[in-house]
Amino acid sequence: MPQVFVPREIADGETRVACTPETAKRYVKEGLEVVVESGAGKHAHFTDQHYQDAGAKVVSAAEAEAAWGATDIVLRVSPITPDEAAKLKEGSLLIGLLSPHKNLDSIRILRDRKVNAIAMELIPRISRAQSMDALSSQASIAGYKAVLMAATHLDKYFPLLMTAAGTIQPAKIVIMGAGVAGLQAIATGRRLGAVVEVSDIRPAVKEQVESLGGRFIDFPMDESGEGEGGYARELTPEQLKAQQEAVRKKVVAADVVITTALVPGRPAPKLITKDMVEEMREGAVIVDLAVEQGGNCELSRSGETVTEYGVTIIGHPNMATATPADASLLYSRNIQALILNMLSEGEVVLDLEDEITNDALLTHNGEARHGSTAEALHA
Ligand code: NAI
Repeated sequence: MPQVFVPREIADGETRVACTPETAKRYVKEGLEVVVESGAGKHAHFTDQHYQDAGAKVVSAAEAEAAWGATDIVLRVSPITPDEAAKLKEGSLLIGLLSPHKNLDSIRILRDRKVNAIAMELIPRISRAQSMDALSSQASIAGYKAVLMAATHLDKYFPLLMTAAGTIQPAKIVIMGAGVAGLQAIATGRRLGAVVEVSDIRPAVKEQVESLGGRFIDFPMDESGEGEGGYARELTPEQLKAQQEAVRKKVVAADVVITTALVPGRPAPKLITKDMVEEMREGAVIVDLAVEQGGNCELSRSGETVTEYGVTIIGHPNMATATPADASLLYSRNIQALILNMLSEGEVVLDLEDEITNDALLTHNGEARHGSTAEALHA
């Protein structure tokens, strides 16, 4: 019977867990043995007792040390450290958000130890894999939480209010980037009654923005901003300047700016310049969800909330961790869908003919398979 191990997460600020009692129960039902390190679900408020009730075995930290090298499948949220990678046994399967480009030392060890590693970031965005799409589940939570965090810091109401003391005008939100996080931010901002304006460079987004009640900020572009795979492409410096000018008036008049703009494999585009922040009203709030990729705002700092020119700028590096219970629930369901897809007669089978397994396998049988990660390891 294959054994699944769920270690406690040790990365700074990581509050999520890769297997909730709900998914543990499902694995047990499917004939897998589930071993959970004591306290693994603590931040998401899943207790050891919850896991035991689900049929999992809870082990102490000392026993967990041994479990790393004894189990067939290890489930993880944050990237593993080189020390952890060195504990895994040959032929075992690691599944997690492995940050391939930022975590080469660990990935080299995984490759050399012949550990098979699936990076949840590499799950292809095809309809059959939607239930496994951890980037989307976590980005959606981040978009939601960014709006709530902005509302908490803002010195104003969000909705239009008619009170006995007169009318309060609704807050104005500008959202830069209407991918998964941005669309959820629009929906959340609208539910709270704010006026929401949105900029993106992929033309297909306009309709989605408007269907959620947002106003699309049009600006003329000589060519589409859509790149490969439905993602955005990097703008030329001239195009970026034109976009900055197009959004400037909206940004400086905004109460809240939420930035989510990303281009795969590139630093985040700098959309909110220092002088735009300087022109914003004191008390306004910026939440920069792209801060880990260098930030969409010139003044945001990863892991910090700073005040510049009276504007609060929130640079939370991993906003989904601020909603640990539901972020864990969705992430663990993403992994469960992936495992169920690979499960055959009680065994987890890595079928390279399956597009999902094939694309998501970062290391396999002593080989780094993901193109740019393999190149980086070689270099
Ligand atoms: P992302 O996180 O790479 O980018 C976020 C947003 O930033 C994108 O909408 C992008 O166009 C925008 N952006 C980039 N440069 C910009 C700039 N200079 N100004 C303004 N906005 C800029 O993308 P995400 O959220 O991961 O997904 C993007 C798209 O991928 C989705 O909207 C959807 O079309 C597609 N997708 C498809 C899925 C599926 O078929 N299963 C699942 C999830 C996403």
